Order: sequence, then C-alpha cells, then structure tokens
Amino acid sequence: MAKQIHFNGFIQNSPSPHSTGLWKHEKDEGVKHNTLTYWMDIAKLLERGKFDSLFIADVLGTYSVYNNSHQAATEHAVQLPAHDPLIPIAAMAAVTEHLGFAPTISATYAQPYSLARQLSTLDHLTNGRVAWNVVTSYLESEAVNLGLTSRLPKELRYDRADEFLEVVYKLWEQSWEANAVVYNRENDRFADPEKVHLINHEGRFFQVPGPHLVEPSPQRTPVIFQAGASPKGRDFAAKHAEGVFTKNHSLDALKNYTADIRNRTVKQGRNREDVRIFPMILPIIGSTEEEAYQKYEGLKEQVSYEGTAALLSGHTGIDFSSYDPDQYIEDMETEAVQGNLDMYTKDPNKKWTLREAVKNHGLGNGTVKFIGTAEQIADKIEEWATVGDADGFNIAQSYSPGTFQEFVDYVIPELQQRGIYRTEYEGKTLRENMFGKGRRHVPDNHPARKAQTTV
Ligand SMILES: Cc1cc2nc3c(=O)[nH]c(=O)nc-3n(C[C@H](O)[C@H](O)[C@H](O)COP(=O)(O)O)c2cc1C
Repeated sequence: MAKQIHFNGFIQNSPSPHSTGLWKHEKDEGVKHNTLTYWMDIAKLLERGKFDSLFIADVLGTYSVYNNSHQAATEHAVQLPAHDPLIPIAAMAAVTEHLGFAPTISATYAQPYSLARQLSTLDHLTNGRVAWNVVTSYLESEAVNLGLTSRLPKELRYDRADEFLEVVYKLWEQSWEANAVVYNRENDRFADPEKVHLINHEGRFFQVPGPHLVEPSPQRTPVIFQAGASPKGRDFAAKHAEGVFTKNHSLDALKNYTADIRNRTVKQGRNREDVRIFPMILPIIGSTEEEAYQKYEGLKEQVSYEGTAALLSGHTGIDFSSYDPDQYIEDMETEAVQGNLDMYTKDPNKKWTLREAVKNHGLGNGTVKFIGTAEQIADKIEEWATVGDADGFNIAQSYSPGTFQEFVDYVIPELQQRGIYRTEYEGKTLRENMFGKGRRHVPDNHPARKAQTTV
C-alpha cells in the first residue's frame, strides 16, 4: 500500500491567530472563537476530512516585545484575546468520534500533578483522543505574569520539561494498575488501594509523591507532540515526541530535518517510524493556478503590517519597532524561537528586509505556502511526503474555517483518489489513527514506559 498521509488542523483560541489581520477578511469567522458552535463546527469539518487531530497552539502572554508594549498586539489582535485551549475540547469531543485534540500546554509554567489530571480527564471524556503539545514558552511576558522575574534560559527550560515529563509519565503509567478499579458493590469497594501507588518523585525541579488523581484513561499517556528546532529541542523531541511539528521552507530543508530527527530518535533507542513528522503548510487553493495566485495577492493585502511586526518581534525576541521597513534583518542568537529568525537570516537564496519578512510572516506565521489547484497542491503534498519523508502536514489557515473547508472539499478527495489518504479511520484512539490499530498505548521503547518510581 502506498504511504498514507496524515493531517492536523492548526488553530489557536484567538481571532485569526496565524494570519495577522485576516480577522477582517469577509470570509473569516475567527472572531467567533468565543462561541461553542465555532469549535464544534470545526471539529465536525475536520472529522469529515478524516484529519488525525486539531492542534491548538497557545501562548500565556502578550506579544509585547515590539516597542516594549502590548499596544500593537492589542490593536491588531495578535494572538490576543488568547482564550484557553483546553476548554472547548469537551464540546468538540461530544460531536465527533474519531478526531483527536492536541492542546498546547507549557511545561515551564504548568505543574505536572495538575496537568496530568487535566489531560487524563480529557482522555476519558474523549475516549482516548487527546495529545499534548509540549512547549517550553518563549515570551518574556509569560514569565513575568507567571511567577518568574524573567524568562528562564532555553537550556534550563528544556531540563525542566524533561523532568516534568518524567513525573507525568509516572503518574499516567505506574500509579494505577490496570485492574485497580473493581466497582465491587457487594463489598463496598470502588478501587483496590493495593493497586494504586505513590510515585514518590523527588528531583531537581519537582517533588511529587502522588498518587495520580485519575484512574487509567484509554491511552494512559496522551500522544506527545513537540516542535523543538534547536539541537536541545530536537533531542527532546527524539526522546519524547510521537508527533513533531516543524516549519520548513524548502524540500531540502525538510529532508535535512526529517533525517536528523529520525537519526536522533534511533539514538534514543526508538524506531525511526516511532515519530510522525508534520511540516506546516498554508494551502491557497484556486480553480486555476492563476486564480490561486490572485487569491494569494488578495490575502497579503489584508495582512496587518504593524501587527505582524509585533508577532515577529515576539517570535524572534527582537524589537523591530525602531527598524526601517527596508532594513535587512541581521543574523543573531535569540532566546526566543531561533527558527523563526533563521528563516529570514539564513535563507541561502535571499536577504530579507523587515517589510518582506512581515509580508511573509503575516500569512500562516510565515510557513511555506502551497498555492495552486487542488491537483497541484496534492502533487506538492505527495512530493514532500515521499522525497521529504514527511508523515503528514499541519494545515494552517488564512481565513478560518474557510481554509480548512476548501482543503477538505477539494484536496482531500484528490488524495483519496490517489490512494494515499484514508477513507475511514483505522482505530478509535488518536494513537491508533496515527500509528495503526492496536497501538492504544505508548510502546515499550518509549520513556513513558521506562520511568521508574521509587516504590
Ligand atoms: C508548528 C509550530 C507550532 C508551535 N506552537 C507553539 C505554541 O503553541 N506555543 C509555544 O509556546 N510555542 C510553540 N512553538 C514553538 C516551539 O515549541 C519551539 O519553542 C520552537 O519551535 C523553537 O524550538 P527551540 O525551542 O528548540 O529552539 C511552535 C513551533 C512550531 C514549529
């Protein structure tokens, strides 16, 4: 059977989160993100398109690097308002049966004990369709509002996240034995306390005795997603991630990235195919190629210059407010998202001015655009999956949910016709749909199965 492609929808609980300024587009409904119907309709739509999951990005602060102020971010709705990513999931789960949900939660600011409970609860309510996009957070505005005086150095953030995962793995995998819940009405016995264990975790960052507050959920450990780009981030992904999100700007860059991630994964004692790699793309579909390019020009006109400059300042950690728009962006090291800066400073084909970078970044967070007819986009998808070794794609939107809708209506049937995309879901849980029927739990070579409690 030909290699099968997977998709996740990329969204955030904000109006037009990844295409800054597009909230004013006539087809955009992102301003309805504060209603349940918006979320339920999107979930039903993606399930109709047989997507693996809806990936919900998140930040816990404002984009206030630009001019050292939240003014531009507020005026132009730059991922602000920023509503909670977890809360709509229960409503979406109620109107779907197969679609997974991958909310983003920061391992820098959450507590492992309470996060383990939240995700176990959702894994129960969704019948095993939950993932966790593990991030370490890049904004200074997150740090100062969440109990720190400033953002922790990146290395330290990853060290903390690594121990964080060790704690939640112990809670999810080892605290409750599979048959701990007995429901014995005659003997007044709900669960067997002999089979519910403390984890007694004592580490550098966390002391968590346990036990876990929730009985085993269908997947126990939710599917672990991550998007590290730095060497430390890639090692973290190779150790823990079952799904990796990435932004690559060319097929060559993707090829290098996928080979590197798979090699690092093998070094961690896992198999190359134990990690599913999803580059992000923004599809711009027309009934002819010319119409698609016209559409692209129209979308660019709706991008907010100042709002995107504020977004890019937050992503790169550089205050662009004092830059001349025609000034080139220079190469440097950043504690924010290095990859977002490298996109514009390490491009072998071009030197980017701020104005050009902003125009690019304003649509789909600067991700690569696949522009053309449904057949042309399907060709590109096939090429990136085979030559670039991607397992699937993370679909960004210009206007929401119209971009998803066009993709589901036009590109999905084309891929199905080519025999490279499912017509039915394979399993019940998210992990089964990503890896095959029967794989409900993390495999034995994953660190979640190896985390040792001291009991
Ligand atoms: C597709 C994609 C989505 C991301 N979503 C988030 C997010 O929602 N919240 C967040 O704090 N970071 C997000 N990131 C940033 C990553 O977690 C990570 O910090 C970044 O890619 C840089 O990697 P590094 O920290 O290893 O340098 C995302 C990155 C990518 C490529």
